[in-house]
Amino acid sequence: MLSELLLTEMTALNQQGGMPLHRQLYEALRRAMLDNKISAGDRLPSSRELTQDLQLSRNTVVAALNQLSVEGYLVSRVGSGTYVNDNLPRTQTRSASGHANTHSSDLSQRGSALSTTFCATQLEIQPFAPGIADFSAFPVALWQRLQNKHWRMTYPEMLDYSYSGGYAPLRRAVAEYLRVFRSVPLDSDQVIITSGTQQSLELCAQLLADHGDTVWLEDPAYWGAVKAFMATGLQTHAVPVDGQGMAPTSADQRAPPRLIYTTPSHQYPTGAVMSLARRQQLLDIARTHQAWILEDDYDSEFRFSGPPISSLAGLDQEQRVLYLGSFSKVLYPGLKLGYLVVPKRLVSAFKQAHYDLNRPGQMPLQAALAEFIEMGHFSSALRRARAGYAQRRQCLLEALQPCLAEGARITGAEQGLHLCLRLPDSVDDKALAQAIADKGLTVRALSAYCLQRQDARGLVIGYGYAAMADIAHWGPVLARVITLELRGRTS
Ligand SMILES: Cc1ncc(COP(=O)(O)O)c(C=O)c1O
Repeated sequence: MLSELLLTEMTALNQQGGMPLHRQLYEALRRAMLDNKISAGDRLPSSRELTQDLQLSRNTVVAALNQLSVEGYLVSRVGSGTYVNDNLPRTQTRSASGHANTHSSDLSQRGSALSTTFCATQLEIQPFAPGIADFSAFPVALWQRLQNKHWRMTYPEMLDYSYSGGYAPLRRAVAEYLRVFRSVPLDSDQVIITSGTQQSLELCAQLLADHGDTVWLEDPAYWGAVKAFMATGLQTHAVPVDGQGMAPTSADQRAPPRLIYTTPSHQYPTGAVMSLARRQQLLDIARTHQAWILEDDYDSEFRFSGPPISSLAGLDQEQRVLYLGSFSKVLYPGLKLGYLVVPKRLVSAFKQAHYDLNRPGQMPLQAALAEFIEMGHFSSALRRARAGYAQRRQCLLEALQPCLAEGARITGAEQGLHLCLRLPDSVDDKALAQAIADKGLTVRALSAYCLQRQDARGLVIGYGYAAMADIAHWGPVLARVITLELRGRTS
């Protein structure tokens, strides 16, 4: 009997002490799933039944079930309840090839969750795969010359770990860029050079939140952020996104945040721009709960239409916003350099902890990048890239026109390197993405980015990587698969 099993496990966990009830239930359910005591595909009792059987409050049960859903252990099917995910890691035996598979007991509980949920695929070079920029546009010869120059000039300190906070001229160049282009008011000392957004997020979680604190995430969400917070032991709370960005209600405030992760300029992946009212609301919530807002401004460099969108950090009077940027999209991801702008009162703690936890390095590379920006090469690379992406975007928008006549609509195409084709709720977007994959094209189902909500259907389509000729050729193929699906449903 499931409730007896859960009660026994919860009693044992309770005896170890210090674990709140919702966490005990979460652990008990998770262990039951990992140890095959509840099978993949099994339907769980409803939260109401669990509340009665376990004599717990509904909030406790809902909190545990929500966390398991966010981490991918449970999936909800509209109208029919909550089920154990089919793709969970199980206690495994030796495989037929003789290699030992990872045993669930080899990994920590966190490790098994991390290795099985929201797993990114290796780099997929595909015309419409979202998240990929056109690396071929990068001025390699110039970059090589700059790197050589800094290696020739290298004096011993440049081979040491990086200065705390990063190489000063690069911090100055980033500060100047952000002041001018993103209206972020800052001194260069507030800029911490990191190895990209992932590391910036980890650092924020490590320094600003304690194990078990709550982080609000947008739903649908950026997988990289979800994983960074799972890895640092935070409780995730999904806040749905609508046409004006993250939309917290008073119910959300019952799970008070310590951190709020958001992509206000171009919500990832729906592309919603956060309205001024929502920005104010988020800043108010941060003030009320003494929470920190992590603003991930990952693709503002590529804005194609509509008025420029200022940063949330620029509106922040209370110094509660940390601003995250990355060179992955504008230059190339393998560069592994990004930056974090922290409020003044956090500067020394962040510099010290970054130095102690990460031992940053790559000073000759940072020096080459500083010069690349100072000499204006960054701005011209950006201008060239923007013009190229604008053409590809236009070509894709035209190719997708027939889908609009069948009930689809496009969101988020004003900015970035992807757009979102929203589909009627009744479309199975994962099956459609698979049908498109059968034609050899990769796009992602919007529902695959969802943490809890069941009502977001669409396709996330990139246009950064493909050459114009490829978009012109494959765009109509993509549109045809989609229109056939939409027509099939209505005829
Ligand atoms: C929402 C979002 N944030 C940040 C990044 C960049 O991350 P990183 O700097 O870790 O490469 C990406 C890249 O795809 C992204 O989609």
